[in-house]
Amino acid sequence: MSSEPANDAPCRILNDVVLGQRVVVAPFTNLYGCEIGDDTRIGPFVEIQRGARVGARCKVQSHTFVCEGVTVEDEVFVGHGVMFVNDKYPRATTNAGALQTEEDWQLLKIVVERGASLGSGAVLLGGVRVGAGAIVGAGAVVTRDVLAGAVVAGSPARALPGGSVGASTT
Ligand SMILES: CC(C)(COP(=O)(O)OP(=O)(O)OC[C@H]1O[C@@H](n2cnc3c(N)ncnc32)[C@H](O)[C@@H]1OP(=O)(O)O)[C@@H](O)C(=O)NCCC(=O)NCCS
Repeated sequence: MSSEPANDAPCRILNDVVLGQRVVVAPFTNLYGCEIGDDTRIGPFVEIQRGARVGARCKVQSHTFVCEGVTVEDEVFVGHGVMFVNDKYPRATTNAGALQTEEDWQLLKIVVERGASLGSGAVLLGGVRVGAGAIVGAGAVVTRDVLAGAVVAGSPARALPGGSVGASTT
């Protein structure tokens, strides 16, 4: 593990981040309390929250938001502006009118398995698992698990006919 990215870049915040070797982090990024694996590249304007994990040899493209509760395994491609969602019924305040805290909502985890790709602008709702090698189309809204090797698109995301990309579909 290394505490520093492999590159220099202005305007980035790295706070309490566990970095692997040779990680490249672009400018205008905000990473805190997360883990990033070896050789992964993080694009500009990406935020990765506390408790999130991104594996080795991943590419996370610009403007993506990776929230708490997300695990991205190795060799995953995350397109531009991908949004992970971990709170199904968000509210600003409690019934009593106070701002909500972490105790007031249920965190729903998301796993993106090895070698999967998430198209630009995809939204992944909490609780889903994207199987190994699957492809999620640009702009898809993923509301259910995606089988390994499947190609899904649309809102809600559905398998495209003949969409296997060669991985196991179990
Ligand atoms: C999902 C995807 C992999 C499908 O590619 P494909 O298998 O070659 O599919 P095709 O282009 O042959 O399209 C098949 C059908 O799916 C539809 N489709 C393709 N991509 C779609 C998408 N993202 N959302 C909704 N429908 C889509 C097409 O309109 C077509 O429908 P039709 O048969 O009714 O005309 C691809 O379109 C995609 O979205 N890739 C992600 C690209 C991306 O975000 N890259 C990020 C870095 S630039």
